[in-house]
Amino acid sequence: MMSPHVLIDGIAKSYGGAPALRGATIEIGEGEFAALLGPSGCGKSTLLRILSGLLEPDRGRILLGGEDITRLPAWDRDIGLVFQNYALFPHMTVAQNVGFGLEMRRLSRGETRTRVVDALAAVGLAGLDRRRPSELSGGQQQRVAIARAIAIRPRLLLLDEPLSNLDAVLRSSVRSELRELHDRTGITTVMVTHDQSEALSIADRVILMKDGSVVQAGTPKEIYGRPATAFAASFVGNPPAALFPLPSAAAAGAAGWQPPPLLRDAIRRGGVTMALRPEDLVLGAGPACLPAKLRRIEFQGADQLALAEAFGQPLAVRLGRGETVAGPQIRIALPERPLLYDTATGDPVAIEQLAEEEQP
Ligand SMILES: Nc1ncnc2c1ncn2[C@@H]1O[C@H](COP(=O)(O)OP(=O)(O)O)[C@@H](O)[C@H]1O
Ligand SMILES: [Mg+2]
Repeated sequence: MMSPHVLIDGIAKSYGGAPALRGATIEIGEGEFAALLGPSGCGKSTLLRILSGLLEPDRGRILLGGEDITRLPAWDRDIGLVFQNYALFPHMTVAQNVGFGLEMRRLSRGETRTRVVDALAAVGLAGLDRRRPSELSGGQQQRVAIARAIAIRPRLLLLDEPLSNLDAVLRSSVRSELRELHDRTGITTVMVTHDQSEALSIADRVILMKDGSVVQAGTPKEIYGRPATAFAASFVGNPPAALFPLPSAAAAGAAGWQPPPLLRDAIRRGGVTMALRPEDLVLGAGPACLPAKLRRIEFQGADQLALAEAFGQPLAVRLGRGETVAGPQIRIALPERPLLYDTATGDPVAIEQLAEEEQP
């Protein structure tokens, strides 16, 4: 990226000595829709609050359009912020809520009115401007919060778990509306979510975090296709990949498994974990296929998930809609090049290198 619209540069933050962010560096391009993804407690909200100016970092800088805004007060940043709980003013009408940031900025009444009408139209709430938040559904309230954030025509729109309080159906419709809104307005957007499928489906780029650090940043396809660590593989996917530590050669032999050459090398190295996605596995036969025990089949509508166990480790195989299985003993055909990670560090392991190391 040439010069990023937003540069989060080595941001660290502790709460009473407990680190929430450990030097996170992230670049976000102009007009990009980025998702900050990670498990609960990994520091996403802390980072968003630092970006918005509600919280000061202990270390590091925030650059917006090349300008250092680290010490700039929140109201001078031109950043729109939307929270999970909407945070609307209950005693104000929809129009007053949406116009709130504009009055703070001392815009004229005419300009305020125009912007409020435009923002409400943009989120599909035209005509509801006289209602109060209590007279709206959860989805409508969240749209008011989004309208309020975009009415200031922000240089950056920040959304913290904006869909978490909505039911599943509403969630996916507001999600695609959010993306369409972004595409119409071109506002650079950073959305926090702990939901990997939400991040993959909505964002241009996903920034995956763990324990206050960035694990991987990339397009949804990169994050899904080439997880940078075992954690990334086990966090992304629906369901995510199963982490499967390879058994010893002796244990494999005793169970009647003859692993393919690549995995034999990995077993010889020791301490290698495969990340196995259900959709990359199929049932098979013969000694090269992984012997497993079928536990249960989960019906999933469009397909089925066979929950199995091999060498004491759980893993799942995606089955076709009408596929039947004769259990409980099954064999699973592995992908030709499974994702391999060091069991101890979680870093990727390249097996070609192992083969070279073996040569005298
Ligand atoms: N105001 C606070 N005081 C003390 N600890 C906090 C505060 N806010 C967050 N934390 C802690 O900082 C870590 C990161 O929190 P947060 O940024 O809210 O994570 P996320 O949004 O990813 O769930 C967590 O361990 C959380 O308990
Ligand atoms: Mg949070």
